[in-house]
Amino acid sequence: MEVIIRDSAEIGCILGAKIIASVVREKPDAVLGLATGRTPLRLYQELIRMHREEGLDFSRVTTFNLDEYVGLGGDHVQSYRYFMRENLFRHINIDQKRTHVPDGVAKDLHAECRSYEQRILDAGGIDIQLLGLGRNGHIGFNEPTGSLRSRTWIKILSEQTLRDNSAVFGSFETMPKHAVTMGVGTILDARRCLLLAFGPAKVRAVEHMVEGPLSAICPGSALQLHPRATVILDETSAAGLRYADHYRWIDSHKFDWQRTK
Ligand code: GLP
Repeated sequence: MEVIIRDSAEIGCILGAKIIASVVREKPDAVLGLATGRTPLRLYQELIRMHREEGLDFSRVTTFNLDEYVGLGGDHVQSYRYFMRENLFRHINIDQKRTHVPDGVAKDLHAECRSYEQRILDAGGIDIQLLGLGRNGHIGFNEPTGSLRSRTWIKILSEQTLRDNSAVFGSFETMPKHAVTMGVGTILDARRCLLLAFGPAKVRAVEHMVEGPLSAICPGSALQLHPRATVILDETSAAGLRYADHYRWIDSHKFDWQRTK
């Protein structure tokens, strides 16, 4: 796991955007795994800027989002499909037909999960998967104790996750309590993983993910198994790491070719 600590979330997001842009420049038909939540918003703004000012071309890119709430159609303002359209897709030259988000209102959700896996395979697999981290260590909507080999499935959201995300819904009671999410195994199949976690609320989850035991109680710790996982933190989310100085040392002694672009 490559751990990169930056002074602020702003700087971390700019670095994250540069990494994704370099994947797209090297492979114009790249398959991107995308995430929602507050964390990647600044990164998406930077990708939009790069598209407008530097001609970053998304016309041949395919995307797969991590997850979607069960019961919310794509026009619902709290759906992740809507989030992606508003915060990224409608601002760049991506072909909407190449953007995939699980269908939270599919009649047969199990069939939707199988089909999502198949569509990822048909696209040639995910080149880089962007991830945030839940306060309880979840990735996608894979909550604690979920299988570390899981494939796209239907998960019951934990009370903590519901409370963390309830602000945007206005009320805890009316929130969907289930989601369709890529499994941890699906995420680990991506050729590269890029996780961002910022702010003091993520300290414990970051600590467990990076330095704790590999354990389903912290799904993010599964990234310890990934051959190419990069974690970008800010000073506040990295505050609990015992080996922070080691990560800084490694970061400052990389050859140029080892440096994350
Ligand atoms: C949500 C999403 C995750 C996201 C996480 C953190 O529930 N399903 O994909 O990474 O929680 O959210 P935030 O970035 O808003 O802290």
